[in-house]
Amino acid sequence: MNKKIAVIGAGNVGASCALYLAEANLADIVMVDIIEGVPQGKGLDLTQAGPVRGYNAKVTGTNKFSDIKGADIVIMTAGLARKPGMSREDLLNMNAEIVGSVAKEIKKHAPQSYVIVVSNPLDLMTFHMQKVTGFPRNRVFGQAGILDSIRFRAFISMELGVAMTDTQAMVLGGHGDTMVPLPRYTTVAGIPISELISKDRIKAISERTRGGGGEIVKLLKTGSAYYAPAAATVDMCRAVFSDEKKVLPASAYLTGQYGIKDIYIGVPVVLGANGVEKILELKLNKSELAALQASAKTYKEHLKILGY
Ligand code: LAC
Repeated sequence: MNKKIAVIGAGNVGASCALYLAEANLADIVMVDIIEGVPQGKGLDLTQAGPVRGYNAKVTGTNKFSDIKGADIVIMTAGLARKPGMSREDLLNMNAEIVGSVAKEIKKHAPQSYVIVVSNPLDLMTFHMQKVTGFPRNRVFGQAGILDSIRFRAFISMELGVAMTDTQAMVLGGHGDTMVPLPRYTTVAGIPISELISKDRIKAISERTRGGGGEIVKLLKTGSAYYAPAAATVDMCRAVFSDEKKVLPASAYLTGQYGIKDIYIGVPVVLGANGVEKILELKLNKSELAALQASAKTYKEHLKILGY
């Protein structure tokens, strides 16, 4: 393959990204992890699935950051995951250290790459990644909005018994307790969900979406979700490689949109060959806008803890 994607972290999210990427035949994949043998073993295992899964992508694993050289996209998944009872923000200091040191390696070995951050707390780690790499902001963005909106979509599909693929949803704000599901922009085959689902149920489904990651942490007990986060990340890679101009929510750097600036937060963007090519400004109503701004305010406070 003539494209290369580096996945930092060969844990559950990283390895699931590698699996979906290989199946999508998007690029050769190199997984990097500090644990000796794990990325190599998973790489070999995934390679050996190729003949029956029908992919030709080379999947390799390494402990050397220099092997990310030439990567077109770097997916950052390394870091601690939540345990039951923890918020994503509880991971702030530990993961900031990991993201900071990986960012330096990315800057050194893959200076032209696009970086998709998946490590939590997502919006803060994306900010940190951009600062430490110094890459243009359109080339550093966070995966969370797709994950939150596909959770919303899955719940709507489960509620109505309709095709997952017929649902569309929009979830903005930080990837955390302050996220802002937007039922007004959520449809089934173009039909507003308000015409199909009662107010109370929409409220309950929105709440479940907000707690969607936590629900899985509680069930797994030892970590957080990985299939849906990885699937969402691969969707973003495809949008960049195929210059899809795909409209999706992602953590992007705001410069005054929605009355918010100097922060990464989930907003609708156009994702294409130049990364985040555009931020779309929806006409939010008062309470939606207030919720988005409140989400941004929380993150401003957290950025102070990181010294920004
Ligand atoms: C989640 C984690 C990965 O939402 O943030 O599942």
